[in-house]
Amino acid sequence: MSSLALLLLLAPVNAWADEPVTYTEHIAPILWKHCAACHRPGEIAPFSLLSYKDAAKRANFIASITADRTMPPWKPEPGHGDFSGARRLSNAEIDLLARWAKTGAAEGDPKHLPPAPKFTEGWQLGQPDLVLKMPESFKVPAGGADIYQCFVIPIPLDRDRTVSAVEFRPGNTRVVHHALLFLDSTGAARKKAEAEKGPGFRSFGGPGVTVTGMLGGWVPGQVPQHFPEGIGLSLKKGSDLVLQIHYHPSGKAETDQSQLGIYFNKKPAEKLIAPLVLRTRDIDIPPGEKRYQRTVTTPPIPVDVYAVGISPHMHYLGREMKAWAELPGGKTERLIWIKDWDFNWQGSYLFAKPVRLPKGTILKLEAYYDNSADNPFNPSNPPKRVRFGEETTDEMCLCPVTVYTDRREDSAALMKWQGLGLGSDLETAGAMAAASIPTDKLVPPGGVPIPERYKAVLQQFDVDGDGKLTVAEIDAMPVLVRNKVKAAIKQYRDKQADPPKK
Ligand code: HEC
Repeated sequence: MSSLALLLLLAPVNAWADEPVTYTEHIAPILWKHCAACHRPGEIAPFSLLSYKDAAKRANFIASITADRTMPPWKPEPGHGDFSGARRLSNAEIDLLARWAKTGAAEGDPKHLPPAPKFTEGWQLGQPDLVLKMPESFKVPAGGADIYQCFVIPIPLDRDRTVSAVEFRPGNTRVVHHALLFLDSTGAARKKAEAEKGPGFRSFGGPGVTVTGMLGGWVPGQVPQHFPEGIGLSLKKGSDLVLQIHYHPSGKAETDQSQLGIYFNKKPAEKLIAPLVLRTRDIDIPPGEKRYQRTVTTPPIPVDVYAVGISPHMHYLGREMKAWAELPGGKTERLIWIKDWDFNWQGSYLFAKPVRLPKGTILKLEAYYDNSADNPFNPSNPPKRVRFGEETTDEMCLCPVTVYTDRREDSAALMKWQGLGLGSDLETAGAMAAASIPTDKLVPPGGVPIPERYKAVLQQFDVDGDGKLTVAEIDAMPVLVRNKVKAAIKQYRDKQADPPKK
């Protein structure tokens, strides 16, 4: 290669550094492509960036906020997961914005202006097969703390279906900050809503009940998408949608009535979406601790899966979360790395192409928390001890990987393996009930002795070999085993509390 060609390759932007940067030729295409989804009237951002005037008066601000990559908001680190709809400016684009600001934000020749962007009004994926709307509008006061409200909406289905896509439409973008979409087929959420005044119920971290599925989540600017052809999410007849919305008061009293569009597969999908959940409830962060670490390692997965999405979740102390897969052949597949966690910009990310994780793959998760006073998001001042829980002041370490399997049986096997049974057999129901109880509420500090008859199975989890299972040892178990063990301990304790009459 000639040295000139090499130079051009190395410095594609500087090569043209003398050419004036103008709005019509260089800047409008960047802002329309990367910013206008949110920065246009009616969308979530505080101002529009559609016109020359809008952009020119903020040229310096735009230059600095793109240089430090605060905007556009996009949390995953490059090289860790290839996501569809990734919002990342190239270095060349950032450079153009900087040069435009520095050289006086010229407009340029209007004939260079490309055709204005067209935005689909209404449903981005077209008219949904089913629209679930909050039955009444919800009042958000002008000020005060953020509100996390769960609305329970029955899903009218005459048979089990499979879902190819969902699209969430906030009723009021001034106050709807983000939404999580849970499914409940047990009626637990419905009961909780009935017990509270007003529509739905309050719950910060999760839905506050053990849910039976998830339809994903929504953050501003998220582009709805269909799963690849033939892949779907099972939606059982009789399920409720538990729509958790995070409201951020706007300074003015507002109302919201959001809705969710559901798109079914044309033909019931054979390849079913299932969550492969990486999590631990073993969280106990001392006050002042700056870099508290949690790791999660799954046992080898029992079937081949294809990962289509991933949704890291922590609360306000969370700083960093990384997930990866170690394949049986020794290859590592990086799934995601959020290096600068921001609770307010948590997303459900979809991979650009499904990531194959063969049977035997081990999934790993690493998370860091900052419980010092230096963490500006720390909800407690002074910092205090923080444990697992669903409140604003608790923490979570959770990362569902959305996967599908080649065969329906495999999906059921995967759910069963994790203790998220699909059936309603008593054993599973017991395990699900026990799953929501923090282990330290069941197990005394010294641990519980392993009964002789279970030694063969459970000994491998007794890491320190003292014949007892401690909270940490139980929480480190595979989910299915852990929930069964917890259910058994609970049953044992309930019996002791209420001894059978002779
Ligand atoms: C996904 C939606 C979204 C996209 C895409 C987006 N923004 Fe923003 N932007 C916001 C929101 C929301 C705010 C308000 C501040 C916040 O909540 O973080 C904001 C705030 C800003 C601010 C003001 C920041 C402040 O501190 O007041 C600037 C400047 C800005 N954006 C520029 C841009 C530029 C330039 C782009 C494209 C390169 C862009 N944004 C893309 C949502 C977006």
